[in-house]
Amino acid sequence: MTGRVLVLGLWCVAACGGGADRASRAERDGEAGAGGAGATIYGSICITCHQATGEGLPGTFPPLAESPVVQGPAELPIKIVLHGLVGRMDRGGSTYNAEMTAWGVALTDQDVADVLTYVRSQFGNSAAAVTAAEVATIRAATASRESPFTTEELGIVH
Ligand code: HEC
Repeated sequence: MTGRVLVLGLWCVAACGGGADRASRAERDGEAGAGGAGATIYGSICITCHQATGEGLPGTFPPLAESPVVQGPAELPIKIVLHGLVGRMDRGGSTYNAEMTAWGVALTDQDVADVLTYVRSQFGNSAAAVTAAEVATIRAATASRESPFTTEELGIVH
C-alpha cells in the first residue's frame, strides 16, 4: 500500500511538473478530444486567418497547407509564431503583403511546439514534430527582438 502511494507520488513528480500551465493544457486537451493541444490552439488562434482547411484566404492570409516554410527547418515557423511576420510573399500564385502579429507572449514554448507539430502534420503537410526545447532555444536567441520578422530577412519572399 505504502509502496503504491510512493510510486504514484513519483509518477506525479515526473508527469505533473509545470503546475498550472500543464493543468490548463490538460483541460484544453480534454475539450479538444483526440486532436490534442496543438489542434486546440490552432482552433482558437490560427484558424481565424489560416482557416480550418489551412488554405488561408487567397490574397489576404497565406495558406499553411503545403507551405514550404511550414514544412522546412522548424526555426522559421518558430520565429514567425514567436515574433510575427511582415512583408511581401508570393504563395501559390497569390501575393500577400500583410502582417501577422506575434504570439510569443501569449503562448508557452510547449504551446508553440504543439501548434507547429499540428500544422506540420495536417492539411497535406508532412514534417517532423517540433519540441519545446527547440522553441526555447529560438526564444532565447531572439529575445531582444521587438518587431516582427520580415519575409526578406527570413528569405521567404518566394
Ligand atoms: C490575424 C491573422 C493571423 C493569425 C491569427 C495567424 N496568422 Fe499566420 N499569418 C498571417 C499573415 C497575414 C501572414 C503573412 C504575413 C505577410 O504577408 O508577410 C501569416 C504567415 C504565417 C506563416 C508563414 C507561411 C509561409 O508560407 O511563409 C506561418 C508559418 C504562420 N503564419 C503560422 C501561423 C500559426 C501557427 C498561427 C497560430 C498560432 C498563425 N499563423 C496565426 C496571419 C495570421
